[in-house]
Amino acid sequence: MRGRFITFEGGEGTGKSTQLGLLNDWLKALGHATMVTREPGGTKLAEAVRRLLLDPELEPDGLSEIFLLEAARHDHVERIIRPAIEEGAVVLCDRFTDSSLVYQGLVRGLGWDEVAALNRLATGGLEPDLTLVFDMDPESALARAHSRNSLGRSRQSRLDDEPAEFHRRVREGFVELAEREPDRVRVIDADGPPEKVFARVRPVLPEALR
Ligand code: TYD
Repeated sequence: MRGRFITFEGGEGTGKSTQLGLLNDWLKALGHATMVTREPGGTKLAEAVRRLLLDPELEPDGLSEIFLLEAARHDHVERIIRPAIEEGAVVLCDRFTDSSLVYQGLVRGLGWDEVAALNRLATGGLEPDLTLVFDMDPESALARAHSRNSLGRSRQSRLDDEPAEFHRRVREGFVELAEREPDRVRVIDADGPPEKVFARVRPVLPEALR
């Protein structure tokens, strides 16, 4: 049996990682085999790339950044994601190719089609069955992210320090993504307590997973 591949996308502080955890618990309770992973990351090589990308001293330009991300992604897809799907798992991934389309393609200005081509090369054409975009006002989302950081539970992220305009463009980028790919991408209103948001996630899951 072929598994499923579900990705979680959205700006910082939108709560997508919390929702990923809730969906994982839910699917396991229903008897599904699941695998949880994230980008950039998921393999030794990709986690090493993640540390490079989040290091405030390195400041790669957009092109260096996308090549690092795609190198990490290729390793992650071939070693972890594709084998898990082939074994029948429901793979839940925190960010994937759509983050590159939005952050590098649109916001950093590398171009949508250019990044889409690199994504295809890195993934061998593997696409999520379903992508959930968690959408909320960036100011509230960032307030949430910053309170999380001040509690010391989160890593220092270079991209967390971007100005408000950057986060507004990220939000618009994900909305544009959903308009371009209505069959695969679902926008979830991320405002509200986790259980309330999760109640909006359940109805968009494929029938077989509910
Ligand atoms: P992460 O810790 O995953 O942040 P978040 O909690 O918001 O998911 O940090 C990863 C950062 O990398 C995040 O700011 C988004 C960025 N990113 C890209 O710019 N392009 C990509 O393709 C991916 C996967 C992440």
